Amino acid sequence: MKYPDELIDEIRSRNDIVDIVGQFVSLKRSGSNYTGLCPFHNEKTPSFSVSPSKQMCHCFGCGAGGNVITFIMKYQNYTFPEALKYLADRAGINLPEAEFTEEEKKRRSRKETLYNINLKAAAYFCWCLQNREGEEGLKYLKGRGLSDETIKRFGLGFSPISRSNLFDYLKKQGFSTELIRESGLVTYEETKGFNDKFWNRVMFPIADEHNKVIAFGGRVMSDAKPKYLNSPETEIFDKSRTIYGLNIARSSRRDFFILCEGYMDVISQHQAGFDNAVASLGTAFTSGHASILKRLKKPIYLAYDSDGAGVTAALRAIKILRETDMVCRVISLKPYKDPDEFIKAEGAEAYEKRIKEAENGFFFEVRILYESKNINDPDEKTAFVKEVCAKLASMSDEVERENYMASFADRYMIPVETVKREVSAIAARNGGEYGIAERPKSSLARAKDPDAGIKKIQRTLLTWISEEPKIYTAVKDIISPADFTDRVYFAVATRLFADVEAGVMNPAAIVSMFEEEADQAMVAEIFNTELERIESQDERRKALSDMITAIKRNSLETMDAKENQSMDEMMRILEERKKLEKLKNIKFTI
Ligand code: UTP
Ligand code: MN
Repeated sequence: MKYPDELIDEIRSRNDIVDIVGQFVSLKRSGSNYTGLCPFHNEKTPSFSVSPSKQMCHCFGCGAGGNVITFIMKYQNYTFPEALKYLADRAGINLPEAEFTEEEKKRRSRKETLYNINLKAAAYFCWCLQNREGEEGLKYLKGRGLSDETIKRFGLGFSPISRSNLFDYLKKQGFSTELIRESGLVTYEETKGFNDKFWNRVMFPIADEHNKVIAFGGRVMSDAKPKYLNSPETEIFDKSRTIYGLNIARSSRRDFFILCEGYMDVISQHQAGFDNAVASLGTAFTSGHASILKRLKKPIYLAYDSDGAGVTAALRAIKILRETDMVCRVISLKPYKDPDEFIKAEGAEAYEKRIKEAENGFFFEVRILYESKNINDPDEKTAFVKEVCAKLASMSDEVERENYMASFADRYMIPVETVKREVSAIAARNGGEYGIAERPKSSLARAKDPDAGIKKIQRTLLTWISEEPKIYTAVKDIISPADFTDRVYFAVATRLFADVEAGVMNPAAIVSMFEEEADQAMVAEIFNTELERIESQDERRKALSDMITAIKRNSLETMDAKENQSMDEMMRILEERKKLEKLKNIKFTI
């Protein structure tokens, strides 16, 4: 990406980080910063901090962070140019056509081509469905009650009985064999050559949030197995982040989503007027799916199959939704198997009624647990009460917990005092804490770093300088960037010191010096170290002196440990040692 630095700077400075993050995360003012729940890991107490003065964000829990561009890249899953475009548009800045590097051009054009292959394939399947080769398929879909309008709306199609019609068609459209293979729509075997993956199936195109076709599901029209065949994951299709029907459901006017299990369930519900139905496909519901839905800020109604497998899947989804702090309810479809069958048998009005009666997710779990026990047996009853109390103790919100405790006691006719006592006993075992905050190690968190201690000191100094540039003046004769022994720390110190000399202060720009996400997060960490509030001038001097001594000593040890030192290096070590000696008597003026 070859945008001029000034342009990147302008785009960044015209998008205030508090505004941008605030669009997606609810932020509260706390001192000179804002804090909120980190959007990059599940948590119940806020550890995500946004600094308006530095124009940076940083999570004390999982280590994610950076400037406004980093945030958008990570949050929207955008590449750097995509994030820049988004922010430029928002600020009304005209972005000149990017000069992409060769590698980027290649990657972009590969992705573009994969989208095109899927689009052409969708058109081909649609065409087949409406023509002679698709007669069976159309009959099947009509037989399942789908209208022409619904078929069109979901772009349904048919893959005819053929060996390689789609492959030949795509070749004729000029796509390379390599990318056609990459799309997963054809298979290759040495003995058989290229064959279409889907044949004799009704086809369900899967679209992403921008309405682009990224994959397909295909259903057999008989009882043959597998019932559904899905595209493999590709550069443009990530199952754990794709939600079927969301391209339509996201603009539904209903104020909740219905989450179900299958293609046909989504489509039947839409046809019956429930255009807020979505599904996670061919894979269980994951926290990735949950975080996508969470951004849309609506409660989730589960319409999972009513059989044992469906109940198990629902329990799993409820757990994930709770961990993501999302409200969820469960729609009962009994005595029917799934929403498709329910609606076909009972109609939209009856379904609407079931939605109104949907059971609270917590009490659904409790009921399933209750039904699995023989409550006449005192041991089993005790186990039941204790398990529910453990769930209650994991609720961190006090009002919520109180309400649920009262309601549970009432419904199951257990003295509320018993419930309260047990819940506080569980919390006491967890060190008196409710909701046991999770602190997951993010992908960015490194293995135990032997330099963690000294890095923390280096970070504290850099943060301090960025907040009080005059600290730099006091230490500049003693400290140099070379004393920062880590690659990223060194680069940051070099730039920060030069900026302070030049009288500018723009930590958010320093983030942009790095391309790797992990490096950007590290820069955010460097500038967001919590500084102790020290009031007295003497104590401030002492703190600074301790820091400088530790940093110098570490730097000296690192130099000392180097093998095959040159003459110059040995001289420098001697000099540094003298400086360290003198440091004891220096009184910093700050
Ligand atoms: P179901 O077996 O419940 O099918 O699978 P269904 O949705 O009710 O399908 P119909 O009504 O018989 O047509 C639920 C979902 O699991 C995935 C599909 O996404 C399906 O919609 N699945 C199922 C597969 O990916 N492969 C399979 O072989 C079966
Ligand atoms: Mn079904």
